[in-house]
Amino acid sequence: MTPAPTPEPIPAPIPAPSPAPWALLAEVTHACPLHCPYCSNPLELVRRSAELTAADWARVFAEAADLGVVQAHVSGGEPLLRPDLVEIVASAHRAGVYTQLVTSGVGLTADRLDALLDAGLNSVQLSLQDARRPGSDLIAGRVSYDDKERAAGVIRAARVPFGLNVVLHRRNLDNLREIIEVGARWGADRIELANAQFHGWALRNRAALMPEGGQLDRAKATVAAWRERHERPELVWVMPDHHEGVPKPCMGGWGARSITVGPDGTALPCPAAYGITDLAFPNVRDESLARIWSDSAAFNAYRGTDWMTGPCRECPRRETDFGGCRCQAHALTGDAARTDPACALSPDHHLVRAAAAAAREPGPPYVYRRPAALRP
Ligand code: SF4
Ligand code: FES
Repeated sequence: MTPAPTPEPIPAPIPAPSPAPWALLAEVTHACPLHCPYCSNPLELVRRSAELTAADWARVFAEAADLGVVQAHVSGGEPLLRPDLVEIVASAHRAGVYTQLVTSGVGLTADRLDALLDAGLNSVQLSLQDARRPGSDLIAGRVSYDDKERAAGVIRAARVPFGLNVVLHRRNLDNLREIIEVGARWGADRIELANAQFHGWALRNRAALMPEGGQLDRAKATVAAWRERHERPELVWVMPDHHEGVPKPCMGGWGARSITVGPDGTALPCPAAYGITDLAFPNVRDESLARIWSDSAAFNAYRGTDWMTGPCRECPRRETDFGGCRCQAHALTGDAARTDPACALSPDHHLVRAAAAAAREPGPPYVYRRPAALRP
């Protein structure tokens, strides 16, 4: 009798490869001339002495490119405060990565921009706090509107792709039409209208920033009316999740599309993830970006859908919104693995509803990160 063949050992399941990131947020410094109350950087900022060197950044960009990253946002804080910014941008360019400077505009002269463009910079995103000088300076916590207007002129004159970024909240939402007109006058190609999120320092100012529902409806109508009559600037607008009961697919999913590297080399799946204190985030000083991306416990913690609990696990939207925002879940419930409280199905949804319902005029004064010259 022929012996039965020994069954082949069943191979261990091969884990699905992590999707490649396509964007890198390079936070080259936390130092900043502005004091915006909606700042999503952590409460404890990285000291200048702990920042990565330009040589460190060159390695990060090269590793990011190898990993599949095609676009880097060189951000902060204010990246122009890095005296070696040209060197940093040049290394991103050498790595073959499309590079955008994200700036407040304070310190952006024609000479500085020329040097950055010579180094390979591809586009500039300028922040604006409000349509008019007093409101903008009040929100920024310092006189800066004129610097921004000058910077816009420098960017336009250089004919480099020019985006404006405006964080919207209770104090400026009703000025939206005027803000868009300023962007058009300054020559922006595109305006990102980013409704304030409540991470990092912004959580301290949530009561002052939270809009009333009516403001958001009016803003939505303003955006629609502009789009009907104008092709430029292109407007990017997304309704905030706290008023709709429908969570956003935050970051396009945890560890799915982008990677943030902080000023000291801390690598995060989301720029606001510093607040999730029970995760140990790896550092590019210790490991390669490829290893961090595919193997680190922090990047794998909320990847995909296996980690989900509660209503998300059975929900048909789980592959669409990935359970919403991990940072918001952690900030509001202390547990990043809970369903985002912005979701109407979350058992914690009342926390978001209560904060939205508490929005009232006038809000409390802003808490600035450092003593600022201007107070509301
Ligand atoms: Fe999204 Fe989870 Fe809410 Fe479903 S239950 S909509 S997956 S956050
Ligand atoms: Fe971090 Fe949403 S802000 S996951």
